[in-house]
Amino acid sequence: MPPERPLPPLGRRLAPVTASRADGAYRVLEVSDETGPEPLPGQFYMVAEAPDWEGSSGRPYLPRAISFAAAEVRSDGVSLEFLLDEVGPGTRALSALTEGSQVWLTGPLGSPFSDPGEVTEGALGAVIVGGGIGIAPLAALRRSLVQKGIASRTLLGFREPAAAGAIDRLFGCEEVRVAYESGDDSPARVTDLLARVLAGDSVGATAVYSCGPPGMLEAVRQMCAGAGVGVELALESPMACGYGACFGCAVPKPDGGFLRLCIDGPVVRGDAITTACAGEAP
Ligand SMILES: Cc1cc2nc3c(=O)[nH]c(=O)nc-3n(C[C@H](O)[C@H](O)[C@H](O)COP(=O)(O)OP(=O)(O)OC[C@H]3O[C@@H](n4cnc5c(N)ncnc54)[C@H](O)[C@@H]3O)c2cc1C
Ligand code: FES
Repeated sequence: MPPERPLPPLGRRLAPVTASRADGAYRVLEVSDETGPEPLPGQFYMVAEAPDWEGSSGRPYLPRAISFAAAEVRSDGVSLEFLLDEVGPGTRALSALTEGSQVWLTGPLGSPFSDPGEVTEGALGAVIVGGGIGIAPLAALRRSLVQKGIASRTLLGFREPAAAGAIDRLFGCEEVRVAYESGDDSPARVTDLLARVLAGDSVGATAVYSCGPPGMLEAVRQMCAGAGVGVELALESPMACGYGACFGCAVPKPDGGFLRLCIDGPVVRGDAITTACAGEAP
C-alpha cells in the first residue's frame, strides 16, 4: 500500500517567505507553512506570488507546480524548501521573491514515493536517479530513507558543472555520484551510472526512484523494465489546478484511459504509463 497522503487544507493560504538564496544554478526559496500538514516526499504545492501574480504580459496567470526539496516541522509550522529553475515567467517571479514576501500555497498535493519493498518485491535498498531540477523531490526522498534506516545510492546528472546546484547541501554524503554531459574530464550521462548499478549483483533487492527531464525518465523506465527492477518516476506535465479538476495534466495509461498526474501522480510506477515523455510540453 502507498503511504497515506496528508490532507491539505481547503483552498489556498498565505505563507511568508523566510529566505531566498542562490545555490549553484538554482534558487532556494524557504517558506513557512503555518497551517499545512507535513508533506511526504514526491508531493508538490501549487505556488504563486501574493498578493499579485499576473505579470504585465498576462503571464504568469496560474500558480506553478513546485515539489518541496526539504521540509522541517517547527513550533510555528512546517518550514518548506523549494528549489527553482528559472525557465519562464512563473519560476522567474518566484525566484525574485525575498525574505518578507508572501506566496499563495495550495498543498501538499499528489501521490508520494512508496517504500522500496512496495516498488520491487523484497527490496531492501534504493537507487535514486536524478537529472537537473528533478533532484528536488529526490532530496526529500533521500532524507526520509536515511531517517528510516534504508540504504540508498544517489546518481545525479547535469548538462555541465555550471548547470548543477544544491548537491552538497541536499545530497552531501559518500553515496552520491554525479555525471556531467559536458565540461567535465569524463563526460557521461546519469543513465551510464545507472547501467553500471543495474549490472551489479544486488540489483534484485533494489528499488529505483527517478525524476528529471522526460527523455531521461523514459530511458530509466526502459532500463529498469529490462533489468526486472521496479521503478517509481516523478513525472511533470502542465498543471493548471493541481487537484484533479481541469484534466490539463492527463497522460495515457497502457490499458487505455488516462492518469491525472496531479492526483494519480506525480509519482507513478514505471509500468503504469506508456511513456514518460507523454506530459512534455509541445
Ligand atoms: C509535480 C511538479 C513538480 C515540479 N517541481 C518543480 C520544482 O521543484 N522546481 C521547478 O523549478 N520546477 C518544477 N516544476 C516545473 C514547473 O512547474 C514548470 O516548469 C512551470 O511551467 C514553470 O513555469 P514558468 O512560468 O517559469 O515557465 P513556463 O512559461 O511554463 O515554461 C517556459 C518554457 O520552459 C519550458 N519548460 C517548462 N518546464 C520546464 C522544465 N521543467 N525544464 C525545462 N523547460 C521547461 C516550457 O515548455 C516553456 O517553453 C514542477 C512541475 C510539476 C508538474
Ligand atoms: S492539474 Fe488539473 S486535473 Fe491535474
